[in-house]
Amino acid sequence: MEIYLDPGALTEQLAIDVRAGLTATPKTLPPKYFYDARGSELFDEITRLPEYYATRAERAILDAHAADIATTTGARTLVELGSGTSEKTRLLLQALRDAGTLERFLPFDVDPAVLKDASAAVSAEFPGVEVSPIVGDFEQHLGRLPRHPGRLLAFLGSTIGNLDPAQRARFLADVRATLADGDALLLGTDLVKSPQRLVAAYDDAAGVTAAFDKNVLTVVNRDLDADFDLDAFAHRAVWDAADEWIEMRLESLREQVVHVRALDLDVPFARGEQIRTEISAKFRRERVERELDAAGLRLRQWWTDPAGDFAVSLSVPA
Ligand SMILES: C[S@@+](CC[C@H](N)C(=O)[O-])C[C@H]1O[C@@H](n2cnc3c(N)ncnc32)[C@H](O)[C@@H]1O
Repeated sequence: MEIYLDPGALTEQLAIDVRAGLTATPKTLPPKYFYDARGSELFDEITRLPEYYATRAERAILDAHAADIATTTGARTLVELGSGTSEKTRLLLQALRDAGTLERFLPFDVDPAVLKDASAAVSAEFPGVEVSPIVGDFEQHLGRLPRHPGRLLAFLGSTIGNLDPAQRARFLADVRATLADGDALLLGTDLVKSPQRLVAAYDDAAGVTAAFDKNVLTVVNRDLDADFDLDAFAHRAVWDAADEWIEMRLESLREQVVHVRALDLDVPFARGEQIRTEISAKFRRERVERELDAAGLRLRQWWTDPAGDFAVSLSVPA
């Protein structure tokens, strides 16, 4: 396994982000810290929830168009950013194998545990394909990706929606900088739809998303010796119509002070005060095309599922 980000560096980054985020108004925590081994398991559970249409819709698109993607790109190397379990990615791997071009798969994720399991599973299923997992941060390390010829960079699950517009612009510029002629970007984006369906998808009846949201507090307790009481916070999902994004928040159920001992930091919370833990932007085709264009990427193909819930797009260096 290639390590661009070791656990020590991740904890140092966590310390910086927690100090900045919990002393800001309003309070925030970045979403990448959800994903320790338990967080990745919880996300995997989310993908199977009845309310969480996004994974099923994206899988349907890949099912219908993976062969097309394989022949259009002729990719020899598939790089998957924020790869998680790489479950839907098997459809791409199969199509590229069937097209006779696939040589290697580079799953890239911040969580080494999910990478280890996913890499073992893909290696077993695709003998003869080189599987080289990379532990890294896609906001920092895209410049270090190996430059094999004929790369397809996949960024699925609408993970791009967890970045705010400025972060997305930087991310897409980094993607453009790493792409050579003949490479391509395959991007999954969740689309704007009714607020009721969106809120339900981020606040499921079984409480799995709530447990996932609170997992960031468990990570801060463990890695920075903090004393968040998980029962003293409630999960909230809110649709922001102006920005067209869902916000996940953790709301303090009482007035309290949380101690983050590794930072020598006391964090006061008023009753009802919230920490923003994730945004999940929802897209329209024009916005995706405009943001790709601003980064020097040209949209070549755009596919949606029959209900128009989700889109997968293929773009290339302009
Ligand atoms: C929303 S999940 C999507 C997982 C999978 N791609 C899918 O479509 O179901 C986001 C994934 O990105 C990873 N991730 C989040 N922030 C990251 C970062 N800054 N750098 C690398 N991976 C990150 C998480 O560990 C997780 O596996």
